[in-house]
Amino acid sequence: MKQIKPIIEIRELEARYGDMIALKDINVDIYPEEITVILGGSGCGKTTLLKNILRLYEPYAGSVKFWGEDILSKDEAEFREVLKRTGMLFQNGALLNSISVYENISIPLEMHTNLPPSVIDKMIRVKLALVGLSEAIYKLPSELSGGMKKRAALARALALDPHLLFCDEPSAGLDPVTSASLDELIMNLKNQLKMTIVIVTHELASIHRIADKIIFLDSGRMLYSGKLDDVKHAGIPEIDRFFKVGKY
Ligand SMILES: Nc1ncnc2c1ncn2[C@@H]1O[C@H](COP(=O)(O)OP(=O)(O)OP(=O)(O)O)[C@@H](O)[C@H]1O
Ligand SMILES: [Mg+2]
Repeated sequence: MKQIKPIIEIRELEARYGDMIALKDINVDIYPEEITVILGGSGCGKTTLLKNILRLYEPYAGSVKFWGEDILSKDEAEFREVLKRTGMLFQNGALLNSISVYENISIPLEMHTNLPPSVIDKMIRVKLALVGLSEAIYKLPSELSGGMKKRAALARALALDPHLLFCDEPSAGLDPVTSASLDELIMNLKNQLKMTIVIVTHELASIHRIADKIIFLDSGRMLYSGKLDDVKHAGIPEIDRFFKVGKY
C-alpha cells in the first residue's frame, strides 16, 4: 500500500512573544484531504500556532515543512510562492470595510496573478457562488450579517484555489443553522475540491461533523494530536472533560 505523506510537518516548534513562551514542543503532521481541528481554551495558543505556521510570526525554534520543503529557510519571494497555494480565514474576518465584497476578493487575484480582468471577474463570481453569496457581490462588508461576512472572507481565502486552507474560528458567533451550513461548505471543499483544511473551532457539534484529526492545546503545550475517533480512549482528563461538557 502506498504510504500517504503529510502535507505539513511541524517539529519541536516553539513560539514566543518577547520573553513569553506561547508554544513549546509542538509536533504535528497534517495529512492531505483531511480536516484537522485545533482545540483548546482561550489563550492556549491556537491562533499563535496558525500564525507561526504561516510565518506571520517567525517561530522561535523548531521546523515547519510544507510539501516536504522547509519553509522557515525560504526567503520572502520563495515563501510567497508557498502562500499562493494557501488560503487563510482570520479570526476577525479582516475584510476591508471601505470596499465592496467584489473588490475584497479581487485583491489576492490582482496581487498574485497576471490574469486579465475578465478572468478575474469570472473567478470572483465563481467563488461567491461557491459560498452562496452571489447576491451580496457589490455590498460593503458593513451591509452584511455576521455569517455573510464569514462567507465573504472565506471566498477571499479561496480566491487563488488554494490546496491548503487555514480557518480561525469560522463559526464563532453564528447561529447553529448558519454554523451547520458553513460546516457543510467546508466538507464540500474537502470532498469535492480535495482541499486540506486546518481549522480552529470550539463547537462540539461542528467538531463531530467535520474533524478527521484533532490537535488539543493546553497552555501552549500539545496534549494530543491524532484521530478524533481515538481521542476519547486516550484517557486525557482535560480532553475527556471537553468532550463531555463542551467546555475547557
Ligand atoms: N501579538 C501578541 N503579542 C503578545 N502576546 C500575544 C500576542 N498574541 C497573543 N499573545 C498571547 O499569547 C497567548 C496565546 O494567544 P492566542 O491568540 O494564540 O490564543 P488562542 O488560543 O487563539 O485564544 P482564543 O481562543 O481566545 O482566540 C495568550 O497568552 C496571548 O495573550
Ligand atoms: Mg485565537
